[in-house]
Amino acid sequence: MNERVGIQPVSSKAMKDVEGVQFLQWCLPRLRLIWPGYRKVRRQVYKRISRRLQSLELHSVTDYRSYLEIHPEEWEVLDSCCWIPISRFYRDKSVFQFLEQEVLPSLGRQALAQGESVLRCWSLGCAAGEEPYSLSLLWKLKLQAKFPTVRLVILATDIDDRAISRAQQGCYPPSSLRDLPESWRTQAFDHTAEGFRVKPEYQEPVTFLMQDIRRAAPEETFHLILCRYLAFTYFDSTLQSNTLRQLIERMQIGGALVIGTGEALPDGEFGLTPWSEKEGVYRRV
Ligand SMILES: C[S@@+](CC[C@H](N)C(=O)[O-])C[C@H]1O[C@@H](n2cnc3c(N)ncnc32)[C@H](O)[C@@H]1O
Repeated sequence: MNERVGIQPVSSKAMKDVEGVQFLQWCLPRLRLIWPGYRKVRRQVYKRISRRLQSLELHSVTDYRSYLEIHPEEWEVLDSCCWIPISRFYRDKSVFQFLEQEVLPSLGRQALAQGESVLRCWSLGCAAGEEPYSLSLLWKLKLQAKFPTVRLVILATDIDDRAISRAQQGCYPPSSLRDLPESWRTQAFDHTAEGFRVKPEYQEPVTFLMQDIRRAAPEETFHLILCRYLAFTYFDSTLQSNTLRQLIERMQIGGALVIGTGEALPDGEFGLTPWSEKEGVYRRV
């Protein structure tokens, strides 16, 4: 993975859209990824591929195609060009409001009724930590007082080691925080010269782990799983179904799964019932 390609802009001439689209439509199915997921973010992928071409001293994606055909290990590098680290705090505000008003109080009551004192959450594809920290803020600022004996802990996983190390630093530009309520920003962040740093008490409940969901998953079970803008946007249908089965195996009965708004679960019987289809929230029955 040390050959991974960064997201800095390239100095080489930009890849032409038509050749980029053709190349992605050729390689994505071989990576078990799907073109519609990449349509809007394709230029980000082009930049990384262009950098890779530069470092291999190749002149075109046609050359790269030939290179891939004789260097199978290169597919792993190409795969890393297709990780999209876009995220922000409190992304899809209405989803976090639904978690605050409906889902977490219900999971909290369920935990108390079962004599449990910990609510376990998993943020899969956590990028630089914006999603799991949003959950930590939400619990501490809005719900902890109502459930003083319940602790919320969050496991946050991502395939991208650079995203994980940014997440562990917990420092963000103002643009990442633009959807957060103003009072949350003042309470939960220190404004430093590098940016807005999540205060230690909000970082403490979150553990970060580098993990590829296609190869591994956490061992424990969770009351709440967030899998937004990853499997159900970028993976092909078989990989989506396999991932969903993995998630369900790791969900408590009565636990909740959150997918991205605008994403859909693959067809099939998975033992989930909608909690709010509008907000992409499902419950394990
Ligand atoms: C678009 S971001 C979504 C971030 C966050 N869930 C959100 O909704 O704001 C997708 C993340 O999934 C990660 N990812 C891609 N493939 C993965 C895989 N196979 N296993 C785990 N994480 C993966 C990427 O590195 C990226 O950080």
